[in-house]
Amino acid sequence: MAEPSAAAAAANGPGEPGATVRVPVGCDYDVLVGRGCLREAAALLPERVAKVLVVHTASVRELAETVAVGVRERGAAAYLHEVPDAEGAKTPAVAAAAWSALGRADFTRSDAVVGVGGGAVTDLAGFVAASWLRGVAVVQVPTSLAGMVDAAVGGKTGINTPEGKNLVGAFHPPAAVVCDVDVLRSLPRAELVAGMGEVVKHGFIADPRTLELVEAGPEVALDPAGPVLAELVERSVRVKAAVVAADLRESSLREILNYGHTFGHALEQVEGYTWRHGSAVSVGLVYAAALGRLAGRTPADLAARHTTVLASLGLPVAYSDPRAERWAALLAAMRRDKKSRGATLRFVVLDDLARPGRLEGPPEDLLREAYAAVAQG
Ligand code: GLY
Repeated sequence: MAEPSAAAAAANGPGEPGATVRVPVGCDYDVLVGRGCLREAAALLPERVAKVLVVHTASVRELAETVAVGVRERGAAAYLHEVPDAEGAKTPAVAAAAWSALGRADFTRSDAVVGVGGGAVTDLAGFVAASWLRGVAVVQVPTSLAGMVDAAVGGKTGINTPEGKNLVGAFHPPAAVVCDVDVLRSLPRAELVAGMGEVVKHGFIADPRTLELVEAGPEVALDPAGPVLAELVERSVRVKAAVVAADLRESSLREILNYGHTFGHALEQVEGYTWRHGSAVSVGLVYAAALGRLAGRTPADLAARHTTVLASLGLPVAYSDPRAERWAALLAAMRRDKKSRGATLRFVVLDDLARPGRLEGPPEDLLREAYAAVAQG
């Protein structure tokens, strides 16, 4: 994939007060990135909308109310609908409660849903919108870094079941996504750091400038009030937008967004989902880089750069558990990855910076050697 030209879109970057950049996702919808652009969410709803369900968590109630005020100003009715935090939002019971709210208020096909919250809330809101009357419009307002640069963009929606994560869902592209970088000021630092795992991933697969910006000053990059984070969000959104516009349903190119995720997902699973997703992806990126190097695909200095960049942000770059059964569990979890084809494990690896490729069926001793490399960080 060619390097997306991020800064070309606007004379004023999205970090400038009042400046908002619109990143198109193909011809389908725009992602707004800016400061103070939360108010614009209501204006991006379909023209004929009469009722809007604003799905949100308790922690972002004020932001949801701001969106609701905008909805009412344009003459539509707004219903605030609170859901539990994090993965607690992604259950069949929570989805059913949202369907009931839509049913009680007689929502029709021309009405809409807005998701205000982290990735779990936008996944749920998108799924509720995808399934109500076989699909109504959704506008996504992510309030976490991971939500802005990954979950809310690209139309993947879903909930969890007792059998696994995201097993029930639909591809349902939003009508618009609004990333107001100012809302990140109240995000706990650990959440911000974890969200950087996906930002760095986008840098390695498609946007070297992202890595340079982080390397120039990791602390500045992490400052939600500083000049760099908004540009990083915009660059990540551009990478994701280019990929999903070309391959919404993950038949091929979209797999590159899973760089670092084969081991990362396995790690999350064996650790009982106690790790933040972005932290597991960080270790997964180090694993994928080591595997690529051991397979003779990824240059050694590029593999080492993964560790340096991620560690500079405070992300974990090592994982070790000497128990043989832990490695067996990780391997079994990697075999269940959705990129696998039958018994053949498939990984995304880098042939060079911003040149992702596939590694099919690597031998088990190579997988194990990469695990040993990750133990050392
Ligand atoms: N998070 C990876 C994707 O949206 O495809």
